[in-house]
Amino acid sequence: MNSYIEQNKDRFLEELFEILRIPSVSTDASFSADIKKTAEFVKAKLESAGAENVEVVDTPGNPIVYGEKMVGDDKPTVLVYGHYDVQPADPIELWESPPFEPEIRDGRIYARGACDDKGQMYMHVKALEVMSNEGEVPCNIKFMIEGEEEIGSNNLGWFVDNHRDRLDADIILISDTDMLGLDTPSICTGLRGLSYVEVELTGPSRDLHSGLYGGSVTNPINALCEMIESLRDESNRITIPGFYDDVEVVTEAERAKMGLAPNKDEQTKKELEIDELDGEEGYTSLERTSIRPTLDVNGIWGGYTQEGAKTVIPSKAYAKISMRLVPNQSSDAITELFTKHFESIAPKGIQVKVTPHHGGEPAVTPIDSKGFKAAELAMKDTLGKDPIPVRSGGSIPIVAMFKEKLGLDSVLFGFGLSIDAIHSPNESYGVQNFLKGIEAITRFHYHFSKA
Ligand code: BES
Ligand code: MN
Ligand code: MN
Repeated sequence: MNSYIEQNKDRFLEELFEILRIPSVSTDASFSADIKKTAEFVKAKLESAGAENVEVVDTPGNPIVYGEKMVGDDKPTVLVYGHYDVQPADPIELWESPPFEPEIRDGRIYARGACDDKGQMYMHVKALEVMSNEGEVPCNIKFMIEGEEEIGSNNLGWFVDNHRDRLDADIILISDTDMLGLDTPSICTGLRGLSYVEVELTGPSRDLHSGLYGGSVTNPINALCEMIESLRDESNRITIPGFYDDVEVVTEAERAKMGLAPNKDEQTKKELEIDELDGEEGYTSLERTSIRPTLDVNGIWGGYTQEGAKTVIPSKAYAKISMRLVPNQSSDAITELFTKHFESIAPKGIQVKVTPHHGGEPAVTPIDSKGFKAAELAMKDTLGKDPIPVRSGGSIPIVAMFKEKLGLDSVLFGFGLSIDAIHSPNESYGVQNFLKGIEAITRFHYHFSKA
């Protein structure tokens, strides 16, 4: 390993712990002071790593940290994006150690945000320090670290529009995805889009005695379950008319290439303690979670859910439903198709209200660009093997937004693993992933400057 990283790794980890201790949960307004504190922390660390013009820029929402290290007009410019906000920690009782008191067990850092995205974002800050100390920052580097990624990046478009002059670059570099393994390096080449809706079903005008009325009125929870069930057929295809119309057809040649990635089904079953995987007929698990769109209920509630029994037919039933989208599907169009269809399948006696939440467009990144080639070389330098290109199932809506507004492609240089349990209790990040990631980022800048 790079000797500067080796000599300073304990301090790097201690600094990461410091930022992990600040609960920068973006979805809950009661953490807004911690959000500000985290932004200030990022600013201070960018400055001490050698960045200039570092600023915490206020937005109508959470601040965005901007900073830069400019080394010459003749050098290419890399715009690094990351996020310092995190998901809520709950259910808190399932954590083995408190989510905002990071600790290392078995070579892994346990904390909310350890991987997504504080750990990965902070690799870029430390990579700048490494390069500054070695006396050679090979590219111009700009940093744009936001605090609203987990709630839909609502103000990033505003920032890009208002600070367009600062954001000239040749490539965007993002570490906010996962890879197959340190011994099976891969680079993410695509992300799914997202359409997210909340549905409210209203039956009778008030909760009813389930004996006096049971059997004579439509129960909104029963109706909701039937409606949800009908959204997928027996081969696990989504039944919303027009849902697949725009889906990009991936060629057999590309599917064959995808099939070369090691099959992780057995490992996944073991990790998740389930005896079978399931999904759309005719596709492998990797395909189901990358090149195919899906629909999932994320939450469902209504009626009596407290202790004991209460005999009641509820007036209302609710669900949150997400659809992951693939290239050529549009988030708004799918939300509209869903809304029309869901309203049309409501049984008599039920009113439906559909409220869209944030969404995002899918993105694929080119694998023949200078940026992608630099990423491949950097991985090879650091991990000793050529990385495999793999599309991912998650969403980072700003990748499509950057392409649209700035005309820039992104390189998804993520070092997470499937075992990191992002968004779940006991989120973790490998110490080696963190340290190797820092080294690989320095190599990326080196190769990109030569491209
Ligand atoms: N970093 C994740 C996305 C991700 C993780 C992509 C692993 C690929 C591999 C990001 O923070 C995230 O959680 N995105 C959300 C969408 C967002 C609009 C809330 C998601 O995918 O659910
Ligand atoms: Mn993330
Ligand atoms: Mn996330």
